[in-house]
Amino acid sequence: EKSGYEHYMLKEIFEQPEAIRNAIRGRLDHDRGTAILSGLNLTARELVDLHRLLIVGCGTSMNAGLVGEYAVEDFAGMLAEVEQAAEFRYRNPIVNSRDIVLAISQSGETADTLAAVREAKDKGALVAGLVNVVGSTIARETGRGIYLHAGPEISVASTKAFTCQVSVLLMVALKLARSRRFSREEGMKMAREIEQVPELVEQVLGQNDAIAKVAESFVNYRSMFYIGRGYMYPVALEGALKIKEISYIHAEGYNAAELKHGPIALLDEEMPVVALLNDGPGKDKTMGNVAESKARSAPVLGVITTGDEEARAACDWVIEIPASPQYTATITATVALQLFSYHVARLKGCEIDQPRNLAKSVTVE
Ligand code: M6R
Repeated sequence: EKSGYEHYMLKEIFEQPEAIRNAIRGRLDHDRGTAILSGLNLTARELVDLHRLLIVGCGTSMNAGLVGEYAVEDFAGMLAEVEQAAEFRYRNPIVNSRDIVLAISQSGETADTLAAVREAKDKGALVAGLVNVVGSTIARETGRGIYLHAGPEISVASTKAFTCQVSVLLMVALKLARSRRFSREEGMKMAREIEQVPELVEQVLGQNDAIAKVAESFVNYRSMFYIGRGYMYPVALEGALKIKEISYIHAEGYNAAELKHGPIALLDEEMPVVALLNDGPGKDKTMGNVAESKARSAPVLGVITTGDEEARAACDWVIEIPASPQYTATITATVALQLFSYHVARLKGCEIDQPRNLAKSVTVE
């Protein structure tokens, strides 16, 4: 069943190019420069009238949602927000019929996300699902939505669900952008960039041995920081979640700008920093944070764009990802960090597919 892989997690990491191809298949209209997401079941009028996109989810699905929030605001100029599903559920949220609530869940059975769906429906919002498991409770109760088509995800640590969720959210952003301010040409360009993602992910998978080598240096650390800005901030959150979940190394994902507002006090030679330094807005500022970290003797692992010698020179170790716009680099950088977490956990002899205290779907609140 693991097709020769030592763990489901590794198998699922390697399945990502194919999974993402399946998630985008038939959904990009290159001629019109838009996305076809018929399951959303929105008329052109409804689409234009939408006031706000509210995304709810937990864990990795919530982190994917944050990329969605950034992309929708960035490309469509439409209000978007992501919220942890239980927080949304219990704080008496303000939603109405011009809001669409998008519930993201791989399993479609997460209790907190399901409760958020019910709350949003009660309040009269449009509710849609972004779900992997066909016929699951959230898919049924939302009635409208987009299936992920990622294929079964067995490993407790979510990998291909995240990259497929982000791919779909980028298509949601494209569709909303075309109903608002995007020209056909702009839409065509974005569709091409999304289409390239599976190939870029293949290039990252080609770095597997190099990443395994870097991982050797991390087995004895007890705690780590992950930092990124803009689109790379959700990647920092997801990278930190993955390493703590499977390798039991404590990790915090931070917006790089926040480092100097407190956490910097923790930095020393025992506290490595993983910095998202790939090309794009914010890179130079994060380079500044790397210098501050080094000045406090913290070792730095940089995720950098292939061939970026300046970034390489600033770090103790690097993992390279191919050049791409930052919004698609959320996917490639995350794949690099999935492999990194996997190898650290493997070298530590951890359970990997069944981490302690965790279940694949959390069906209690
Ligand atoms: O099935 P869901 O996407 O609703 O699950 C949400 C979280 O429980 C899940 O993403 C969890 O954080 C993963 N174990 C992370 O790898």
